[in-house]
Amino acid sequence: MNILVVGGGGREHSIIKKLKENKDVTTIYALPGNGGIARDAQCVPISAVDIPGIVDFAINNSIDFAVVAPDDPLVLGCVDALEEKGIPCFGPNKKAAIIEGSKVFSKNLMKKYGIPTAEYEVFDDMEKALKYLESAPVPTVIKADGLALGKGVIIAQTRDEARNAVIEMMQNKKFGKSGENIVIEEFLTGPEVSVLAFTDGNTVVPMVSSMDHKRAGNGDTGLNTGGMGTVAPNPYYTKDVAETCMKEIFIPTINAMNSEGRTFKGCLYFGLMITKDGPRVIEYNCRFGDPETQVVLPLMESDLLTVMMAVSKGTLADTEVRFSDKYACCVIMASKGYPLAYEKGFEISIPEELYDRVFVAGAKEKDGKIYTNGGRVLGVTSVCDSLKEAVNESYKAVNKIKFDNAYYRTDIGSRALQARED
Ligand code: AMP
Ligand code: GLY
Repeated sequence: MNILVVGGGGREHSIIKKLKENKDVTTIYALPGNGGIARDAQCVPISAVDIPGIVDFAINNSIDFAVVAPDDPLVLGCVDALEEKGIPCFGPNKKAAIIEGSKVFSKNLMKKYGIPTAEYEVFDDMEKALKYLESAPVPTVIKADGLALGKGVIIAQTRDEARNAVIEMMQNKKFGKSGENIVIEEFLTGPEVSVLAFTDGNTVVPMVSSMDHKRAGNGDTGLNTGGMGTVAPNPYYTKDVAETCMKEIFIPTINAMNSEGRTFKGCLYFGLMITKDGPRVIEYNCRFGDPETQVVLPLMESDLLTVMMAVSKGTLADTEVRFSDKYACCVIMASKGYPLAYEKGFEISIPEELYDRVFVAGAKEKDGKIYTNGGRVLGVTSVCDSLKEAVNESYKAVNKIKFDNAYYRTDIGSRALQARED
């Protein structure tokens, strides 16, 4: 089978490595992929948002199945365009991808169907938003409606910060059209859990839970990033919490999307906060998380391609989805300066025996060598019988991988280890 994977980060690299385990797979193309992915797939320089280019490529290369991984092409309708040409896909269509593409849509969906989330107000008028802030409790959370490269959420500690965030989004158009409408919501507290779930619109199968580490610095300090590391499972996601989430969040969300005529097929990402009043949805993503995927898929024992094809065909209920009961930890190695300015172009050296566990996010290949080419450069995952071992093994591996200006957090997993002892 010829498989096409749209995207080119660490998440896509882990999807590709997992897909390769299926022996019916002959060729995997990554569009655009990256210099590290090139070891595992044929990378083709077509942008992940060039929908006509992707469709042409798929037709000309007899693609049997496509996986669209990033948010942008999903929200732009990449799955619709491929399916129109008869190419089966894993990923939601444009109508369903709006669950991530518009925070106003997702908040209104949750309110309409009674799915627990933070209280909120929606504004399309800056003056009204500023007026509302005069009496809103702080801290408060300001969210741009549309996609904003993960930067569209501001936690404002004071009214002044909140005002500035609203002005930046609505008047100064910091996020372009994405900030034309905004959500102002209640600030919640509690541990966060990421749950990725396969769904074909009828059945929902949560994967093993995980914990992201979004801030750049140790101790969850510094700027928000795309994610500096992950562990799985997440100790805060107890059996009780999982049962509540299934009943109050996962199934109601799938049903709500069906009722709206927006059946969701693919991987639905539930960003949850476990508050003292129970689990709340912080955000939905219409795709696998990055770097959650880098710990979740290595724990998956079932065949990924089989599950993805079942999702696409609507036969998930008849398909086994099994996860190991081991522990995984992924540490991200970034370029010093990320998420702000950083230098690139440094040679990366990865010992041969670590390649299976390395997921490359930002690298360029030249004459058989790879060079840093992004903020997040790579992630290295370990799967072990205990979380402690998984964390130790990942850091041992990090110490063997070399490139100039490498930066990584040294405390990935420590909060989870602490929670397990509490
Ligand atoms: P997002 O970009 O939607 O993933 O949000 C970024 C981060 O902002 C989340 O992971 C949370 O840590 C935080 N966040 C978002 N909404 C809230 C909220 N209502 N209360 C507290 N923290 C929030
Ligand atoms: N790791 C968070 C995300 O993928 O959105």
